[in-house]
Amino acid sequence: MTTYHPIEAQATIDRVRQTLRSSPGVMTRLDEHAGRAVARIRRRDVNFAALPEYEIINITKAAGEITGIEDPFYRLHDGRAGETTTIGGRQVVNFSSYDYLGLNGHAEVVAAAKAAIDRFGTSVSASRLSAGERQVHRDLEAALARLHGTEDAIVFLSGHATNVSVIGGLLGAEDLIVSDVAIHNSVTEGAKLSGAKRVLCPHGDLEAFERALRLNRSRHRRALIVVEGLYGMDGDAPDLAQLVRLKRRYNAWLMVDEAHSIGVLGATGRGIAEEQGVDPADVDIWMGTLSKTLVAAGGYIAGTRTLVELLKFTSPGFVYSAGMPPPVAAAATAALEIMRREPWRLEKLRQNGSYFADRAKARGLDIGLSIGASIVPIIVGSSPHAVILSQRLLERGYNIVPAIFPGVAENQARLRFFMTSRHSIEQIEGAIEATASELPKVRAGPSFVNVIAGIGA
Ligand SMILES: Cc1ncc(COP(=O)(O)O)c(C=O)c1O
Repeated sequence: MTTYHPIEAQATIDRVRQTLRSSPGVMTRLDEHAGRAVARIRRRDVNFAALPEYEIINITKAAGEITGIEDPFYRLHDGRAGETTTIGGRQVVNFSSYDYLGLNGHAEVVAAAKAAIDRFGTSVSASRLSAGERQVHRDLEAALARLHGTEDAIVFLSGHATNVSVIGGLLGAEDLIVSDVAIHNSVTEGAKLSGAKRVLCPHGDLEAFERALRLNRSRHRRALIVVEGLYGMDGDAPDLAQLVRLKRRYNAWLMVDEAHSIGVLGATGRGIAEEQGVDPADVDIWMGTLSKTLVAAGGYIAGTRTLVELLKFTSPGFVYSAGMPPPVAAAATAALEIMRREPWRLEKLRQNGSYFADRAKARGLDIGLSIGASIVPIIVGSSPHAVILSQRLLERGYNIVPAIFPGVAENQARLRFFMTSRHSIEQIEGAIEATASELPKVRAGPSFVNVIAGIGA
């Protein structure tokens, strides 16, 4: 079999082009053919409103209007959302905030952001490569490296963009990416962008990870294993030591997305390595977000000096994107400092998480695989029922946003309860009581799909 080197293939294409250019008759016929093909494209094909994706949104909206079920997404909050929030002028208990340690709006965080605005303004206006750095960037990156016990760190403008840009840039078509089916969309998008072969393993099944590496590793140049430190959908954590053994055996990079584990796992909130007693140096790429515990916005990578330098000069989402706004960087640094100084917040969060999980189980609610850290899903089992349950709970004074298909498998639709260190036992008890009493009623009633179809109305 002939194998073409990309450079040879390009040379062949160039030769064919050259030949065609020197034969005007052929070029004219090709032009005519292309013109006719373009004429066949209808206006409808480029009309946003006619896209099938848009029609699905409209059908869902119509279903909501017919059945009187409000859209649970994009709810408008009147002010700061923490353990409580105000929606439409009414205060409700909130379980849909990732402000795990209750730091959003903390006086010190606010003061740090304001001081950064006073000194540097609200923007650095361009990439740090060209517009230069501000001390707040360096302070934050040093604090993140200390947090993870790594040599260095680099911050990006969004957590999602961090995964897309870093995975999409470090790997290419000759490479292999092995990850968990429950992995965050940002990893999936980065993997798609890279063009690497992707193997998705059943959730938490490290034997499947091993099989994927055994069967595929030898045919690929680089390999990346990606997991979450605490899974955002299920609230469980992988066995990190086992993953380190796998990455060593198969000469792969190990990347851990700590979006939900910083400020949650480990005695001082340093994530899964601290929780499970693993040397942070055994993980090649630590990734995290600033939008959750650290009450700012943005993402980061922590690792060796070499990795960080490599990304600083090659990662498109860093090199070609503006530097982090100074108040955002300063807010995250201040939040890190409070977290370090006040470990009682972590203790309270973990108490709330395990209390919620125990009480929910005792009431017969299905919490899936949650370890009761900060994320406890209640599995509802159908998307329409999850949406209806969310509305009923809002009516009873609890804000919990559903996770539905296609975010999860249809039979795994759920409400995800996110704990904060500031929730009280009464708030937790109230939410569990409301859920346990509403869920059977919702399940016994018609789903809105059935209502529309005229079944069981
Ligand atoms: C596991 C995980 N990774 C990455 C992200 C993206 O982070 P951000 O929302 O800060 O962009 C999220 C967001 O929810 C997440 O849950």
